[in-house]
Amino acid sequence: MRKKIIAGNWKMNCTLPEAKALVEGILEGINGNAGIPKRGDLEIILAPPFPFLSLCREMVGKNSFIHTSAQNCYSEEKGAFTGEVSAAMIASVGAKYVIIGHSERRNFFRESSAMLMKKVELALKNNLRPIFCIGELVGERKSGKHFNVVRQQLSETVFHLKESDFRRLTIAYEPVWAIGTGLNATPEQAQEMHAFIRQLIGVKFGRKTINNISILYGGSCNAQNAASLFSMPDVDGGLIGGASLKAADFVSIINSAITTANELPGTAV
Ligand code: PGA
Repeated sequence: MRKKIIAGNWKMNCTLPEAKALVEGILEGINGNAGIPKRGDLEIILAPPFPFLSLCREMVGKNSFIHTSAQNCYSEEKGAFTGEVSAAMIASVGAKYVIIGHSERRNFFRESSAMLMKKVELALKNNLRPIFCIGELVGERKSGKHFNVVRQQLSETVFHLKESDFRRLTIAYEPVWAIGTGLNATPEQAQEMHAFIRQLIGVKFGRKTINNISILYGGSCNAQNAASLFSMPDVDGGLIGGASLKAADFVSIINSAITTANELPGTAV
């Protein structure tokens, strides 16, 4: 079953008291009076910076549909890599997911496809579910290369996995020109690319896998535009940056996912 997933990528934001207040606000919105109905087809993911992963896991407690994710992991198992954090460490503090291949990692930290693949393999080995990010630069879209770029990003990396491993992935399509810019892809642009990605997955891994992989949209998704993006048939939720730092906005985005999930065939609990 394709799940609706709303993941909040906090990036390098929040101090400890701010992180606590943010999680409290989100939990209040989810579990409070006008709470969010619990559904088997919905997952909420919080991706705080490393120092707050344990705290967030503890605060989330028994909410079985709320999970934590790291924003990155290192490409080696363990050892003399000062400042790095391993997949095993992340798993040991109760996180279920790890974001891999975010464009900020690819661009600022020059992470290559080969390195990303090592990270994905280590994540899977440690029972973490990678949220694997792909997406084109503005120039690539303007010159009409966006489909080729995305195809290559997949074929150079996660398309080398065996099918049973690939199925443990979530894909996030994040056009780089939309990240943090306030300029989101239109629902039609998102749908077009998500359908293309789903088709590539189908050709590579077959129909069963297509029906189990969630493809999230990321890039200036907010409380105002979430419903229209999520109502697209191939958009299974969002990877939310800026808007995940305000509890009310994040909860409103989760609500949009629920409302639109009702309209999708095959997603009722
Ligand atoms: P944004 O970031 O929502 O702030 O554009 C999304 C992301 O980078 O995952």
